[in-house]
Amino acid sequence: MRVGVVGCGYWGSKHVRVLCGLPSATRVVAIDDRREIREAMEAEFPGVIGRPSLIKALDEIDAVVIATPPESHFDIAAEALAAGKHVLVEKPMTTNSLDGRRLVEMADRSGLTLAAGHTFAHNAAVRTLADIAGRGLLGPIHYLDSARLNLGLYRGDVNVLWDLAAHDISIANLILHDVPDVVSAWGSRHTDRYSEDVASLRMQYLRRRVEATVRASWLDPVKVRRTTVVGADKMAVYNDVAADERIKIYDRGRNVAGGGLRGRGRTLTYRQGDIVAPHIEFPEPLRLQAQDFIESCRTGRRPVADGLAGLAVVAVLEASDQSIREDGAPVHIDHRVVEMISATAA
Ligand SMILES: NC(=O)c1ccc[n+]([C@@H]2O[C@H](COP(=O)([O-])OP(=O)(O)OC[C@H]3O[C@@H](n4cnc5c(N)ncnc54)[C@H](O)[C@@H]3O)[C@@H](O)[C@H]2O)c1
Repeated sequence: MRVGVVGCGYWGSKHVRVLCGLPSATRVVAIDDRREIREAMEAEFPGVIGRPSLIKALDEIDAVVIATPPESHFDIAAEALAAGKHVLVEKPMTTNSLDGRRLVEMADRSGLTLAAGHTFAHNAAVRTLADIAGRGLLGPIHYLDSARLNLGLYRGDVNVLWDLAAHDISIANLILHDVPDVVSAWGSRHTDRYSEDVASLRMQYLRRRVEATVRASWLDPVKVRRTTVVGADKMAVYNDVAADERIKIYDRGRNVAGGGLRGRGRTLTYRQGDIVAPHIEFPEPLRLQAQDFIESCRTGRRPVADGLAGLAVVAVLEASDQSIREDGAPVHIDHRVVEMISATAA
């Protein structure tokens, strides 16, 4: 498979590195409109050739990874699909759900692979957490909560939810095997007038009667990357910044006995049991994602994070924009997205 990477900046350069290490990627083309970036890729990775635009590389590639700023994702992905190329688009897949639906439809019509760059779908710790929750080892899930905080890196093109919470939405969808129905969001702007740099998101998965909350910030002194899943029997915490023991399962909870009106006569006992940290092999998620993408292009099977998974995240983020404008009012995600996802799941 000959793969082009469009946009070889901070994140795209990592895609180039990973692809260069895969035997299944027989050629890697670094496509960037900045000459110094192309030259840097050619110098760092022997065999990589640089091209200034997708159109100049079309004859040399079968598939593309798009790692340009989000506002350009749709145009580049549509151009690639129209030229018969398989596409992996970085998160967020598009900046609105209409464009996301168009990409999914284009790929389906032409039998091409459309994958979304939701790296955490390939993260061994997240997959372990999803497996533990899916097998019922935590009991019925009460709620999910996650935090993604740090000082920077500010992006000029999208707000902090589109940049950081995109990861947490994809993680929650993976753990719950579902997409939210209703979204509420609040945000504040401390650095520029147009874009939230601190925000909170509440997602309600009505069919599952579970909600997931996310706190995202570019303006926090401490780097936090944490997802907590609270079940009726056990609780699990995934700490992405831990050197080891990224997942801990706590045999903790509370038992309720008795209880009449307003809890009168109710007794609560607390369970403080063992903490288990399962051993997890941790191959680089970006490499697994690249392998999965190439394998999907070759065989026609659906990638782990396909276009619909990318679209589901975009639909939540779009609803979050509306909710922020309406001061946290609950907003249903676009019913056309829900219908597309249900039709494929059926
Ligand atoms: N999955 C992850 O964990 C993860 C992490 C970081 C960034 N990202 C995503 O990767 C994307 C890129 O982010 P970044 O931080 O690397 O941005 P960046 O600004 O560092 O790099 C973007 C590059 O794209 C090039 N470019 C822009 N428009 C182009 C065009 N039309 N044709 C060719 N080249 C073009 C620019 O010259 C630049 O080199 C974003 O969508 C971001 O959300 C994902």
